Amino acid sequence: MTHSAYVFDAYGTLFDVHAAVRRHAREIGPEGQLLSDIWRAKQLEYSWVRTLMGSYRDFWQLTEDALDFALARVPSADPAMRGKLLEAYWQLDCYPEVPGVLKALKANGARIAILSNGSPAMLESAVRSAALDAVIDEIFSVDTVGRFKTDPQVYDMVVTAWRLYPDSVSFQSSNRWDIAGAHKFGFRTVWINRAGQPDEYLDLAPALILPSLEGLMA
Ligand code: LAC
Repeated sequence: MTHSAYVFDAYGTLFDVHAAVRRHAREIGPEGQLLSDIWRAKQLEYSWVRTLMGSYRDFWQLTEDALDFALARVPSADPAMRGKLLEAYWQLDCYPEVPGVLKALKANGARIAILSNGSPAMLESAVRSAALDAVIDEIFSVDTVGRFKTDPQVYDMVVTAWRLYPDSVSFQSSNRWDIAGAHKFGFRTVWINRAGQPDEYLDLAPALILPSLEGLMA
């Protein structure tokens, strides 16, 4: 089925959040993956808790706070790496199939957007460094509404701006909880299960599950 609008989550879906630690794997030592997992888990936890409390801080601040916690929890990692790790977040690798798939969707006439928790500056930098600027029509950041996913106001930004019905938007995310929120809002959802995770939120199921973005063109 083809859709006229394809909206993508950023972190974990287009950009590899673990690329920052991987880039400095040698200096960080044997617990790099643990550090990266804690960093990501805390970044997301802060986004949910702060939205519930109504106490928004932008995603960059959450990313810094989460790294400070992760470095404290993993003492084998040198805290002096903080600056380099944060810097790498502005130039994360995109997954290898991303440029080709986005180009092909665009060539088919689809509109392409990012809808992300990221701050506008973080997202613009990641898009530029992955050379995706020419294929992405719009970047929607939660910063506009001051609430993080899965608040419905976040998903609503796309349909309000583009004057679309929710079910005419195909929304792709590797984060199963984000798929649950987008499905609840009314998007047609595709879960990109890159890590081969077990399914969850079974009452809020995606229309399609794919191992990478590749199958979107099928
Ligand atoms: C984002 C987070 C969920 O990009 O990864 O919105």
